[in-house]
Amino acid sequence: MHIEIKNLYVSVKEKEILKNLNLNINEGEIHAIMGPNGTGKSTLSKVIMGYPDFNIKGKILANNTLINDLTIDERSRLGIFLVYQNPISISGLTSSELIKASVDTKGHKSLYEFALEVEKDMQKLEMPKEMLHRSFNVGFSGGERKKNEILQVLMLKPKFIILDELDSGLDVDSLKIVCLNLNKYLQENPDTSVLIITHYTRVLEYIKPDFVHKMNNGTIVESGDYSLAKEIEKNGYQSFSITEE
Ligand SMILES: Nc1ncnc2c1ncn2[C@@H]1O[C@H](COP(=O)(O)OP(=O)(O)OP(=O)(O)O)[C@@H](O)[C@H]1O
Ligand SMILES: [Mg+2]
Repeated sequence: MHIEIKNLYVSVKEKEILKNLNLNINEGEIHAIMGPNGTGKSTLSKVIMGYPDFNIKGKILANNTLINDLTIDERSRLGIFLVYQNPISISGLTSSELIKASVDTKGHKSLYEFALEVEKDMQKLEMPKEMLHRSFNVGFSGGERKKNEILQVLMLKPKFIILDELDSGLDVDSLKIVCLNLNKYLQENPDTSVLIITHYTRVLEYIKPDFVHKMNNGTIVESGDYSLAKEIEKNGYQSFSITEE
């Protein structure tokens, strides 16, 4: 999916969070955004997904169509998927019920077909089957929640994936399993594009970005290739260095 963000300004009440942000992600491209805490990365991901809490100026286009006025549900149906920094839990609704309802909105799939598919994907992610029958993310550990998000990616087959701090909560082995599965998905679906929001290059070592952007004060201030991510990890965002007394 081709995603284009043009002159985006985002505010909440009086607070301006994103300022004149421009980003073009062509079909099949992988982009990464790195930026200090509170600079607006998660806000950008929520705005692309269609959260209604923000005042927005500027354009968000998916495959050259303006999607500013579409709801979260409509954007999901277009194939946009946000892997949350902090996935939410829903009591009273099992993962199985949620995923089946999202994947199979027309009710065409038999329960048997669905079960086979979801169990195969859970095996790939090394998730125990019993998780499917627990309330969605309720009592799940941070890493289990993240895997549950990736399970939805594998099942829903989105065309544009936003990964907001994928590595938070995942141990080294789980991060590797998740990234290898995402890579496989991207190889099998080469028209899918990705936006990776991250603080460290760990995820980018597995999922190699075509472009890396540095974000500061609500806008993109520098763009480059993977070497920019390495430079940021080494030198940080500040020009001054912290000296020990
Ligand atoms: N609903 C809201 N009301 C008020 N302020 C908000 C709201 N949502 C976000 N903000 C503020 O906007 C700024 C950007 O937040 P955001 O979560 O996008 O940062 P971030 O770049 O993802 O940071 P981190 O790296 O810590 O995840 C923060 O100062 C945050 O407090
Ligand atoms: Mg964030």
